[in-house]
Amino acid sequence: MSYLEVTWTDPATHARGHLVIDRLVRGVSSGGLRMRAGCTLAEVRGLARGMTAKEALNYDPGARYVPLGGAKGGIDFDPYDPRANDVLTGYLHAMSPYIERFWTMGEDLGLRQSTIDEAIAKIGLQSSIQAVYPLLDDETKARQRLSDAFQVTVDGVGLDELVGGYGVAQAALTGIAHLGLTSPTAFVQGFGSMGGATARFLARNGVKVVGLADVHGVVANPAGLDVETLLLSRDRHGGIDRAELGAGDVQLDGDRWLDVPADVLVPAATSYAIHAGNAHRVRAKLVVEAANMPITEDAEVGALVIPDVVANSATNSWWWWTLFGDVDPTAESAFDKIGTTTRRLTGRIIGEPSPRKAAQRIAADASDEIARLFPAEQFPTRACPADLSHDRVQMMVCGRTW
Ligand SMILES: NC(=O)c1ccc[n+]([C@@H]2O[C@H](COP(=O)([O-])OP(=O)(O)OC[C@H]3O[C@@H](n4cnc5c(N)ncnc54)[C@H](O)[C@@H]3O)[C@@H](O)[C@H]2O)c1
Repeated sequence: MSYLEVTWTDPATHARGHLVIDRLVRGVSSGGLRMRAGCTLAEVRGLARGMTAKEALNYDPGARYVPLGGAKGGIDFDPYDPRANDVLTGYLHAMSPYIERFWTMGEDLGLRQSTIDEAIAKIGLQSSIQAVYPLLDDETKARQRLSDAFQVTVDGVGLDELVGGYGVAQAALTGIAHLGLTSPTAFVQGFGSMGGATARFLARNGVKVVGLADVHGVVANPAGLDVETLLLSRDRHGGIDRAELGAGDVQLDGDRWLDVPADVLVPAATSYAIHAGNAHRVRAKLVVEAANMPITEDAEVGALVIPDVVANSATNSWWWWTLFGDVDPTAESAFDKIGTTTRRLTGRIIGEPSPRKAAQRIAADASDEIARLFPAEQFPTRACPADLSHDRVQMMVCGRTW
């Protein structure tokens, strides 16, 4: 059962937004905020649970950062709708008591960090991660370090938009080596923060990116796409600029995304993209989950699958490693830590009969250890979440008695 579930309905558009806190550690939880038409409470609940595992998997007794609990926010609204920013602001305003105390959050599907930051400033909050500030030794230095890291760009793309995909690419390269694939090719579904950076770092490591998909359709070329040109010309939602396609590139309908032959498939867009109805069309030898929950439980995929909690956790951990001082605010330091951690974790699960189950076991063991070292009684919440209920939200569940 979740620790807390809250649902809000926008009075203007009737859009619904959810917040699920799966668990608190030291009184705080972490997990991004997504916006997509059709986003459900069940989806947000599953994502929040995944965040608890993702946090715990990065537990390192020698590090300054102690993993937080997992959470997630989701707004059922089209991010391309002109009213999207108003809906986002209304949602954040309604959720502000939780953001102030328990929930730290960053960009996820459909939202850019800069868009969230603007809305957070508009409603008078300090930051989307202010709930963690009381856990910092030196808040001023820590915030400066993170702010400096956000100023870093690498060849035209902000470091914050690269770290997640860098981790996915490292997981994929570990899988490629494990399977002994020579001259590997890849297809990436989604070309936003995660898909764009994954494609860049796969291409830079000798993997031919033969196809990409965005919400508008598929672009493909068996000889390889010019990832860098497409990356630097995409729109702020990860839409590919078709005017930048090269000779030999072809365009296909979006539902053809599993028809492009590639050794490696990286779903980096929506949840539930691969399901029982289309899993038989997956021909790749390796699937690396950049998206959260891209494969439904009933889908049987005949490939080695590196699960989301291992492959895509780098954005989340990079924020905390930087804030708590485990990495410097430079691309070198970030990539070094992400590379080492992701390759080590992927290596631990990749030879197991079920890498996903192996990751769940490691996460559960780490969660138990964290709960033992930081018992909830020692970190009483700064206010009872139930007391923060107000007329703009509906409190669905409180998984704890008060
Ligand atoms: N951004 C992060 O830090 C982060 C971290 C971990 C996991 N994730 C997960 O990665 C996935 C992508 O997140 P993001 O932040 O890169 O999103 P984004 O909004 O930056 O990009 C999404 C991309 O997917 C494409 N897309 C959307 N719907 C599609 C569809 N039906 N078919 C094909 N393409 C489609 C969009 O056009 C865009 O290119 C999500 O599942 C998210 O939860 C994101």
